[in-house]
Amino acid sequence: MLLKNRKSWLIAENQVTPERLYLSRRQIMQGFGVGLGAAMAGPLFRAGAAYALPEFEIAKKTNYAGEEELNSYKEITSYNNYYEFGVDKEDPAKYAHTLITDPWPVTVTGHAERTGTFSLEDLIDFNALEERIYRLRCVEAWSMVIPWVGVPLAGILKKFEPTSKAKFVAFETLADRAQMPGLRSRVLDWPYREGLRMDEAMHPLAFMAVGLYGKPLLGQNGAPMRLVVPWKYGFKSIKSIVQIRFTEKQPRNTWNILAPHEYGFYANVNPAVSHPRWSQASERRLPTSLFNQNRIPTRLFNGYGEEVASLYAGMNLRRNF
Ligand code: MTE
Repeated sequence: MLLKNRKSWLIAENQVTPERLYLSRRQIMQGFGVGLGAAMAGPLFRAGAAYALPEFEIAKKTNYAGEEELNSYKEITSYNNYYEFGVDKEDPAKYAHTLITDPWPVTVTGHAERTGTFSLEDLIDFNALEERIYRLRCVEAWSMVIPWVGVPLAGILKKFEPTSKAKFVAFETLADRAQMPGLRSRVLDWPYREGLRMDEAMHPLAFMAVGLYGKPLLGQNGAPMRLVVPWKYGFKSIKSIVQIRFTEKQPRNTWNILAPHEYGFYANVNPAVSHPRWSQASERRLPTSLFNQNRIPTRLFNGYGEEVASLYAGMNLRRNF
């Protein structure tokens, strides 16, 4: 997002919310006994600038992580998986500043009444942004708690009026060698691809993020728009989406193409189903150190079972991993 083309939905820099106020807001909420699922409407606290990035107007805030402590802005933006920018956790933060996100055309194809090429503003209603605090559980058994900013995925998909033939929705990330040094390596089959069953995509917890900590996403976190599917392993949360396709058949997803025995289509967080090479029973809640692994038990559906378990009623979760 270029600062010189300041958009009307951004607040001036001198009105941004420093991270420590997010933390104190949590403490305040705890103090009043406001816990999981509590919504807080209204403008952000106003204070002096903490970051060079502009701040979004946010219409609604919901904490889906209870009392769990938020990860810091630095942690969330410096320890990433974004293989298009390299395979090391530090690579995306080092290299993703080359990503050009404005303009950002998105192509919509397949079983829908409205298809074609759309702008980011066609997809995202920047006047109705929400903040949602979600846990992110990576398949590599680490996790973070992140205050995302975005809109429900269902609202975006409905704009295209998917037909009754649309049983799944597939997403693709940009694959531009000029901007993404990681594409020179064949470590994954580019472009990065992901997909959801239509009822999963329409579930109210499925979210399209455009920011975190009140600010537009940085390249390393999937600017300008990435999925957040909090009950699934992090690899389902595909970054920098340029294509949406409504399909009748279950689409292939990148990690499943690479290693079908290790990564399935569903990828629901499940402590009872181990990865062939490691257990999924617990996770390291970042930050960790040599002396403190900060290990906590992993929960079925990443703790969102009450909301999403009905999507999988009667399904064998061991077979559909
Ligand atoms: N999207 C793309 N395009 N490329 C990737 O390598 N990695 C996935 C997911 N989305 C990835 C991606 C994985 S494995 C995880 S755990 C999350 O992004 C990490 O998101 P974060 O770096 O914002 O925490």
